[in-house]
Amino acid sequence: MKFRDDFVWGAATSSYQIEGGQNEGGKGAHLWDEYVKEENGKVFENQRGDVSCDHYHRYKEDVQLMKELGIKAYRFSIDWTRIIPEGIGAINEEGIAFYNSLIDELVANDIEPYLTLFHWELPMELYKRGGWMNPDMPEWFANYARVIAERFSDRVKNFFTINEPQCFVGLSFSEGVHAPWLQLPDSQTLLMSHNALKAHGRAVQELRAHARQPLNIGYAPTSGIALPATDKPEDIEAARQAYFGIPQEGTWAWNTAWWSDPVIFGKYPEEFLVHFEKDLPKITDDDMKIISEPIDIYGQNIYLGYPVRMGEDGKPELLSRNTGYAKSASNWPMTPDALYWGPKFLYDRYKKPIFITENGLACHDWVHLDGKIHDSSRIDFTARYLGALSRAAEEADIRGYFAWSLMDNFEWAEGFGQRYGLVYVDFQTQKRIPKDSAYWYREVIRTNGACI
Ligand code: BG6
Repeated sequence: MKFRDDFVWGAATSSYQIEGGQNEGGKGAHLWDEYVKEENGKVFENQRGDVSCDHYHRYKEDVQLMKELGIKAYRFSIDWTRIIPEGIGAINEEGIAFYNSLIDELVANDIEPYLTLFHWELPMELYKRGGWMNPDMPEWFANYARVIAERFSDRVKNFFTINEPQCFVGLSFSEGVHAPWLQLPDSQTLLMSHNALKAHGRAVQELRAHARQPLNIGYAPTSGIALPATDKPEDIEAARQAYFGIPQEGTWAWNTAWWSDPVIFGKYPEEFLVHFEKDLPKITDDDMKIISEPIDIYGQNIYLGYPVRMGEDGKPELLSRNTGYAKSASNWPMTPDALYWGPKFLYDRYKKPIFITENGLACHDWVHLDGKIHDSSRIDFTARYLGALSRAAEEADIRGYFAWSLMDNFEWAEGFGQRYGLVYVDFQTQKRIPKDSAYWYREVIRTNGACI
């Protein structure tokens, strides 16, 4: 197994999922803070992230844990409403101070920070003004990005702008399975997507303009990966077409090209423009210039793939999975080849250095009689996925891998019902216990993957 000598081995989290401290430190309210209060059964057992892992108070302990586990890079996100409680306007110095000490702690322990600006904490005040539908959203986000650059880029070099627009637009506003549980027409969600992409581009501009040092700036979308059913060239071509095409299942937002072509090429895919013609927002050349502001690195969160072959009609055909296929506690199929074909297809098309910004397995972990967490399936899962990634690394420029997640946390609609962590969290006592997979991952990091 061969990875670059400077391969980045990390773990990822996001703010609402781990922080807690919901009403503390001058924080404002965001969409999830507000909408989980409804107790409408949309979140597993009506749980909420008000306390979650209490990382807001325990971040020093968590950084020490990372150090003990040999983790070299930490991808975390900032809650916009800790920095600017109403999304625009006054800056909250207490929020700045919290992230300053987290960053200082990371740096002091030789852990490289990778900062994500937006992992879904849309300030409530901005949502009331239409949120992603409001044409001012890109400027509001740009203002926030400027503050982040001014305050943190002296110590943080690596940034991701937005995490998974497929989810914060698609799951939240198209499928209605994430807060605020809406199912809006395509014309509205396409407008949101355009504003979100502009917000990304404006953030890149602001980060760059106010940086205290040269930065690596990227983007962190997601998608299921189309996997060729066989090695035949026609099946590979079918998978590539399906991966970058209009989704054959689910809502329009579950796709790659709509979200990534504009960022890299400065234009939306023609096929989509034709297909969604009647629902498109106004798109100008200036917009596309903003959206395609050059980025340095390309992040992709990859969990799973789906089989595709070339159909008899010369079009990609989605295949059903084999009965009894291996799957996670979230019923996601185990498809290690997603970490081969995903980065390969992305690199072939976009030619940017690639980071796997999230990958991991939901398990029903518990503390065993000996006091440990024996999560052998997570070890097996990760070994298989990293094996595929190392194959991709022979053909594409793969720079790093972030395990999702550093620790068990509030998994959005799944509440605390799914555990993805390398570290087990007892949500009653807040005790952290590294799982077997955490010690295994430490060895992977130490040997740069050679031990797998
Ligand atoms: C990704 C998100 O979609 O998948 C993470 O970026 C999330 O925030 C992870 O936790 C797992 O998904 P879920 O729906 O099981 O929480």
